[in-house]
Amino acid sequence: MKILTLEDFDTSKKTVFLRVDMNCPIEPDTSKIIEFSRIEEACESINALKESKVVVASHQGRVGRYDYIDMHQHAEILSRLLNRRVEFVEDVIGPEARKMIKNMNDGEILLLDNLRFCAEENYEYSFSEAANTVMVKRLADYFDVCVLDCFPSAHRAHPSIVGFSHKLPALAGKIVAREVNTLDEILTISKSPFVVVLGGAKVSDRLEAIDTLVSSGRADKVLLTGLISLVFLKALGQLKNLDQDDSQVEKAKKLLTKYPNIIEVPLDYAINNNGERKEKDVKELEKEDKALDIGHKTIKHYSKIINSAGTVFMSGPAGAFEKEDYAYGTKELLDVIASSFCTSIISGGHLNAALHRYKLAEKIDHISTAGGALVLYLAGKRLPMLESLKEAAARINKSC
Ligand code: 3PG
Repeated sequence: MKILTLEDFDTSKKTVFLRVDMNCPIEPDTSKIIEFSRIEEACESINALKESKVVVASHQGRVGRYDYIDMHQHAEILSRLLNRRVEFVEDVIGPEARKMIKNMNDGEILLLDNLRFCAEENYEYSFSEAANTVMVKRLADYFDVCVLDCFPSAHRAHPSIVGFSHKLPALAGKIVAREVNTLDEILTISKSPFVVVLGGAKVSDRLEAIDTLVSSGRADKVLLTGLISLVFLKALGQLKNLDQDDSQVEKAKKLLTKYPNIIEVPLDYAINNNGERKEKDVKELEKEDKALDIGHKTIKHYSKIINSAGTVFMSGPAGAFEKEDYAYGTKELLDVIASSFCTSIISGGHLNAALHRYKLAEKIDHISTAGGALVLYLAGKRLPMLESLKEAAARINKSC
């Protein structure tokens, strides 16, 4: 079933609800945005809607976490990137937001505050339940059309993602249309073996991703780096003193038993030795050693596996890549992926930034800012956002 895009609907002079995903990494101590490739992505659909009144909406962070902040920094960055005025309202569904939406002129942009400040946006619903939330009931009448351009949140059945689209004509934005087209093309021609390289700091998301990708046949080998690799080493009994969440170690043990010979862990790591990078084999690591990158032996071992892969999916950096001394593992793995014959898919803002920093982006088949949603898409799962776009397209076709 086809979904409709911006090319299929005349949006000029209309009031558009544009759901993007500007959920950015935040520095815990300062609450500052540290990487904003998702805000850059949001610009494409906003620019394509130049003749409309564009109400931009996104979530940021999760309730109770350090990254759960308001959207005023996003508004400033967005305005700078677009080189256009972006109004920001510290409100989502209240009278202030509604008044500002009502008074908009064509060509104007208004950014609402963090959608998750509305309790309803933190739960999942069926499409009809979502359309019946206070958020959708309060706001839907102000809009002529809803544009969904939040691929990184496509796996969430939240009111802003599946509720407005159940009531209004709904179109895929520029990023969603491109992600779906490119991924579908790549997946039809991609070959096995599928190698997944997982790093970064989001351990619980990675544990889920391993299960999803291996059980769906989308991962013949999983190469671990970053924090998640330490959890698996602990599960294997090779890191006795690591201070790590026990429930995560238990999950890692279960995955190792469920999928024997699939998950690979590093052989060595780089640590900070009096301000200098020093590499140590796993068995030599002391309690106080903080692993900041993978070492040369691991890179050599992983490179061999990547070079014999048909398709490689990499998500999350291999270490603290923002510090030059510990960027080596991330850079080397990206280099091998870029120069091998495999089909390559790279996910997440940090790796996107690294690819541009090392001038490797053009050698990669697909770069996405999405994380969890991309994993599910690769695994062939249905994503609520795409399902709601299909439903909206069917509704429009039926009424024509
Ligand atoms: C993401 O970063 O994966 C998306 O923005 C979704 O965020 P969530 O996992 O907090 O729903």
